[in-house]
Amino acid sequence: MKVTSLFPFGAFLAGVVAQNGNDAVFEPADFNATEALLNTGFNISAIPELAELAKRSNCGSLRAVYGGTKVLSQGTSAYDAFTDAYWSIQQGSVSPQCVFKPSQALEVSAVVLIARLTKCPFAVKGGGHAAFAGASGIDDGITVSLENLKQIKVAPDQKTVDIGPGNRWVNVYTVLDKVGLGVVGGRMAPVGVPGLILGGGISFFSNKLGWACDNVVSYEVVTASGLVVTASPTSHSDLYWALRGGGNNFGIVTNFKLSAFALGKMWGGQRIYLENTFPDVLDAMYTFATAGSNSDADAAQIVSFTSSPAIGNIAIAQLHYAQPVATAKVFDAFNAISHISSSTDIRTLGDLTILMNNGSTDAAPLRQTQWDVTLRVDRDLFTFLINTFYTLFPDVADVEGGLPTISIQPITGGQLKGMQQNGGNALGLDASKGPFVVMNMSSRWTNAADDRRILSFFSNVIKLVKAEAKAKGLDNDYIYMNYASQFQDPLNSYGGANVKKLKAISSIYDPLSIFLELQPGHFKLGLGAPSSVIS
Ligand SMILES: Cc1cc2nc3c(=O)[nH]c(=O)nc-3n(C[C@H](O)[C@H](O)[C@H](O)COP(=O)(O)OP(=O)(O)OC[C@H]3O[C@@H](n4cnc5c(N)ncnc54)[C@H](O)[C@@H]3O)c2cc1C
Ligand SMILES: *[C@@H]1O[C@H](CO)[C@@H](O)[C@H](O)[C@H]1NC(C)=O
Ligand SMILES: *[C@@H]1O[C@H](CO)[C@@H](O)[C@H](O)[C@H]1NC(C)=O
Ligand SMILES: *[C@@H]1O[C@H](CO)[C@@H](O)[C@H](O)[C@H]1NC(C)=O
Ligand SMILES: *[C@@H]1O[C@H](CO)[C@@H](O)[C@H](O)[C@H]1NC(C)=O
Repeated sequence: MKVTSLFPFGAFLAGVVAQNGNDAVFEPADFNATEALLNTGFNISAIPELAELAKRSNCGSLRAVYGGTKVLSQGTSAYDAFTDAYWSIQQGSVSPQCVFKPSQALEVSAVVLIARLTKCPFAVKGGGHAAFAGASGIDDGITVSLENLKQIKVAPDQKTVDIGPGNRWVNVYTVLDKVGLGVVGGRMAPVGVPGLILGGGISFFSNKLGWACDNVVSYEVVTASGLVVTASPTSHSDLYWALRGGGNNFGIVTNFKLSAFALGKMWGGQRIYLENTFPDVLDAMYTFATAGSNSDADAAQIVSFTSSPAIGNIAIAQLHYAQPVATAKVFDAFNAISHISSSTDIRTLGDLTILMNNGSTDAAPLRQTQWDVTLRVDRDLFTFLINTFYTLFPDVADVEGGLPTISIQPITGGQLKGMQQNGGNALGLDASKGPFVVMNMSSRWTNAADDRRILSFFSNVIKLVKAEAKAKGLDNDYIYMNYASQFQDPLNSYGGANVKKLKAISSIYDPLSIFLELQPGHFKLGLGAPSSVIS
């Protein structure tokens, strides 16, 4: 049902699209959310009386105005298909009262205002790859799925691309590969665009250009008052800064304008190494994290360690190069180590992300957890990390469907430099203490009965690693939001000054804390870790 025609376009412009600039008072104390909802074109006469709105089911209101294809109800096959499509079983087991699928920013404004007027909790879902329950779905509330906002529009000058939050990275790259362009984004095909960028976003191109959030030219964002604003270095620059790492705390992003660059084919893939080569693999990683990555901005690397019942302990190196060159000197040390398998080859960016995702469980979700910490780079510490992981491994070796894995990826000098552009980001990484590594760990597994065992394993590895790093002066506070577990508090790790600044920006754009309180899922500014104890 199209309802905007009820309202003069002028009113919509004045009421819903804020003027550019940095308003001292963004939302006045006498802000009238009912009026703002009317201004979105929401047909309030479809609801018998405004006073009734609060008592009625919020989903009923949405359904009355937007119809059943945009509002999925419990007990329907469309609803079940929706919850089954999360990456983790834990997220898929959350039961919203309904799922709303807006197809334009104005409809996102309407749902924020309805939630606000009726105090109905909500969650926002992009690609649904956050792992823990409630990160992008909500029991008994409205889950707003952005899947219909899937524009991918290259600017005529080819310098930027407008990308809707409904896209997965593989969709973006498939379009851009055809016109010889790239953007700084995710490395695995099905991951969602919005969550990855809003938490930071480590990319194949980060050593040259910084993280994904550092390469956003502007965000179109629906704020708590339903206003749709553009946040960029020159418009609401405070909000722009906060969105570079602030997660879901500041608004709902309806368009990312990303900086684009010329890109042909790339080289990359993975190599598998046996345990007797681990010292050499760790040497190669250390060289890469320090001198190697500094010498060649096109290079990227992630190395993971796990155990295979058939083969024993293995290292999996993912090596990437942003040129169609198979012999880059920067990988000489890896090339010198004998491996048992290799998939490195020259491919398009899109094909590389499909290869990276090979072996995933997208089609049949399992239980999932992810954890991370960051550390300063030190060769002996690398040994300590994997020894600690393998020493505790017997605790979880027999978990059905388990695949506990530890990865080490550098936050290189080039990445830290890229983070400084456009006024810097909110992450609080101190370049003078770099380079760093992110140690990210994860597992999938089958049975809820093993939750406690798996979660405790990762928590225990982290405790030992942090203690060692502290003792050696190699610790670093920063926790990367996009790999953090529900028992961690990444936002608080951005440092006191940044947390204070983020809170000040939140109080300007969301004075009533709508995005913190009515949207309780994932990581909340100033509210601590989502869960406190492993149960
Ligand atoms: C297989 C796999 C591969 C990965 N690879 C990488 C990688 O290469 N690099 C990397 O940095 N990270 C990577 N990650 C981590 C990834 O960045 C996070 O899982 C991220 O949260 C995924 O985003 P999403 O949109 O799919 O998630 P969702 O679960 O949909 O959303 C995550 C969070 O973002 C919020 N959100 C979503 N859309 C919006 C919006 N439009 N406005 C405001 N808030 C929003 C949600 O409410 C939620 O809090 C990977 C994860 C997986 C599982
Ligand atoms: C808010 O706006 C609505 C619709 O115009 C009006 O009925 C209501 O009285 C207003 N509320 C306040 C507190 O001004
Ligand atoms: C708004 O809702 C009312 C009541 O359901 C309906 O009669 C009217 O046609 C709707 N207006 C539009 C423009 O859809
Ligand atoms: C995925 O890996 C399997 C072997 O593990 C291989 O046979 C298959 O070709 C790979 N698929 C892609 C798309 O690379
Ligand atoms: C760590 O992150 C990278 C990139 O997102 C991913 O490829 C790797 O599988 C992750 N490792 C673990 C153990 O989750």
